[in-house]
Amino acid sequence: WGHLLVDHLVQTDDPPKRFDLEHQLAKYRQSADYLREPLRPQYHFSPEINWMNDPNGLVFHDGEYHLFYQYNPAGNSWGHMSWGHAVSADLTHWQHLPLAIPEADGIMAFSGCCVVDHHNSSGFRRGDQPAMVAIYTGHGNGKQVQNLAYSNDNGRTWTKYAGNPVLDIDNPDFRDPKVFWHEATGRWVMVVSLAKEKVVVLYASKNLKDWSELSRFGPAGVAQKSNWECPDLFELPVEGGEGKTLWVLEVDMGSGSVAGGSGGEYFVGHFDGTRFTATQEAKWVDFGRDFYAPVSWSDIPQSDGRRIWIGWFNNWQTCLVPTSPWRSCMSVPRTLSLRKTPGRDDSGGDDSGGYVLVQRPVKELQQLRVHSRSIQTHGATWPPVAVTKPGELTDRVFELETTLKPGTARSVGLRIRTGDDEFTEVGYDREPGAVYVDRRKSGNVAFHQAFAGRHEAPARVLDGEVSLRLLVDRSSIEVFINDGEAVISDRIFPSGQKPTIEVFAGDESAQVTATTLHVLDSIWHPIGDN
Ligand code: FRU
Repeated sequence: WGHLLVDHLVQTDDPPKRFDLEHQLAKYRQSADYLREPLRPQYHFSPEINWMNDPNGLVFHDGEYHLFYQYNPAGNSWGHMSWGHAVSADLTHWQHLPLAIPEADGIMAFSGCCVVDHHNSSGFRRGDQPAMVAIYTGHGNGKQVQNLAYSNDNGRTWTKYAGNPVLDIDNPDFRDPKVFWHEATGRWVMVVSLAKEKVVVLYASKNLKDWSELSRFGPAGVAQKSNWECPDLFELPVEGGEGKTLWVLEVDMGSGSVAGGSGGEYFVGHFDGTRFTATQEAKWVDFGRDFYAPVSWSDIPQSDGRRIWIGWFNNWQTCLVPTSPWRSCMSVPRTLSLRKTPGRDDSGGDDSGGYVLVQRPVKELQQLRVHSRSIQTHGATWPPVAVTKPGELTDRVFELETTLKPGTARSVGLRIRTGDDEFTEVGYDREPGAVYVDRRKSGNVAFHQAFAGRHEAPARVLDGEVSLRLLVDRSSIEVFINDGEAVISDRIFPSGQKPTIEVFAGDESAQVTATTLHVLDSIWHPIGDN
């Protein structure tokens, strides 16, 4: 956990004798601003108060989606890591629940996963409901080990397994287990990281308690850069592949990723029940700076078996974002698939592009659309022109679907969250053929010297067009490019009180077209003036 020590990430010094979390929460719940602060995400999950990092233990059970997360019950920066908890019936509206797994005896509860033990392989079942079992890293006494905790009441209360740890190789950087049931071999499979070595180790178990090593993967990918954390291994369908599936191994680096700071890479290949083999080079998960440590899961029987994930919407390098009394939020849940893409030479035949991970916001989010309309954008060149009506975006949360036609212009695009000399720009640049998010003038960029920046994702122009879907919340933007084949996720901290959308084109050959605006509801309260 090297990056946790570097940068100015400080653990709370003197741990208070008794956390007064309940008291702090009660006080906060009375405040006029409750979940409505100007920078509080209105449809991305955030904890009511205090620091949050990685999502943990995403699972669907008995009609509920569970989101656990790295949480500091004692303050608004990293420390005393414990598992926070929230549930949702529709993957959109979240209910905050009490702490699930606390730090205890100086052992922090680091990242991990959750499974529903339908076959009672662990023997943790009481009554007729299968137990939920959390497999997580215990951090303390100079090493990291894998522990179990289980719940017999749908995650409301947890018991730590008396036989912990279940996996201890006497290593200080051995963390973030992700476990899944492998049907073909009839056993549990775990991927877990030897972080410093950039090696992922696979283990198997019949009962979640006794684990034996299967194989190792790595170092690989951008191997010279920092550590590997939070691995995930899962099977995905290939779009239009008539049932063809491939496996994806995702890993996260504490620093050195494509947009700077922390970020994820993924490998596509095969898993034979024992070993993962990559069949193509590593690719970047997200081209923005703020998508880390995603956790995937499948929500059968709620769906036909789609795979979804949620990531931490922050970056370790610039993680002390200017919000209080909470810090950090999650990305929206995204469905995953693989798409075969041609190489850079678009003429056909060129296979070098391989498979890309496709991410799309889950369809459930569409229920938040309170008002939709198409926007007239023709004729806009330079300077940018406003295309929204005064007052239309009062609550500043919206979704925008648009198509950019670059023509022969150098660039074409939009500005959102505009204010006096303030905007976040999203556009397509001919050279080098990329969609970008420019947050250099997005508002408060001074809280960290590495925050201001411009982040690019290579994008294909298909029939003269690049399609974009923008999800804008009070302090974030996610840009889904060409139906999800690349994503840019960035936090922004605007002060702008004139929340208009503006469009621009470098010359008359370029156009922003087919633009639909969806004004979104808040998941916390009905929209009001703010
Ligand atoms: C990743 C990470 C994990 C660790 C957790 C600690 O962001 O460093 O490797 O388990 O955060 O909070």
